[in-house]
Amino acid sequence: MKNLKNIAQAMVSPGKGILAADESTPTCTKRFTALKIESTESSRNRYRSMLLSANNLNQYISGVILFDETFYQNMIDTSQTIPQYLKSKNILTGIKVDTGAKSLAKHPGEKITEGLDNLRERLQKYHMEGADFAKWRAVITINKNIPSDTCMHANAHALARYASLCQENSIVPIVEPEVLMEGNHNINTCYEVTDKILKIVFQELKLLKVDLEAMVLKPNMVLSGLENNEKISEDTVAKMTYDVLNKNVPKEVPGIAFLSGGQSSDLATQRLNNLNKLYGNEKSWNLTFSYGRGLQQDALLNWATGNTKKAQEALIYRAKMNQHASLGKL
Ligand code: G3H
Repeated sequence: MKNLKNIAQAMVSPGKGILAADESTPTCTKRFTALKIESTESSRNRYRSMLLSANNLNQYISGVILFDETFYQNMIDTSQTIPQYLKSKNILTGIKVDTGAKSLAKHPGEKITEGLDNLRERLQKYHMEGADFAKWRAVITINKNIPSDTCMHANAHALARYASLCQENSIVPIVEPEVLMEGNHNINTCYEVTDKILKIVFQELKLLKVDLEAMVLKPNMVLSGLENNEKISEDTVAKMTYDVLNKNVPKEVPGIAFLSGGQSSDLATQRLNNLNKLYGNEKSWNLTFSYGRGLQQDALLNWATGNTKKAQEALIYRAKMNQHASLGKL
């Protein structure tokens, strides 16, 4: 287990964060199509290779989460697999191992994340082929009368089963219970739901004997729904987010790496900075980023216009800003 703790610490080491580049093929296709880019195995390979070969990425990024397709591809025009390339750059390789959020039977509007079948065998294979850590994302939707206790318990249990299997197979689990921003709920509701899901997740992790020192938590920040216009100060966002984490996340967990959800890249950076600025001295874990859209948005826009150099510069700029934010230095 010693090695896993080192990996978990390296993933969230001061001034470093994680690049989530693990969009499933349908999600990647949606993002490409919106910018009139054809989504093929080869275009996705070119795009991901462009991201990963950005100059000095490893100064800001400790690890990259890959989708299965990318994990088995070579860096474009080379004979080096992407995990081999990342290793040569001192960047850890992550792999998304859930198979997606599907409708939860008899619970309209709610989802359960699937992927536990054959997970042990898949993890063994990924480990042999260079994976250092994995990711599993559970989604919790807020709406009238939801989330149900059933949805939260089922997802938390699956997250814990996944995390214990990861550790059994020498892979650090990123545990991601995401309370979605979609909806018109207010920030207090987001706080209450986040509080509840985190409580249940840590109960389940304990039940399944997950070593908290060898995992990384990837939560949402506490925010109002995207369709809610209430005016909330950024200090309140930081206070409520810190408070819910402080109440629920044991100090053994080495780090918390936020998802960006539906926030703009700028806001995701500013909010991370604010959290570290205001609570940097009292927090027990490192607070950093594991952003997908929050890191890639500008890079993708530039890449869509055919400007690879600008795309890579945009990624590095964003990674650098988030590095500063993870230290509260913006
Ligand atoms: O699971 C979610 C992704 O890894 C993070 O994506 O930052 O775009 O929400 P996001």
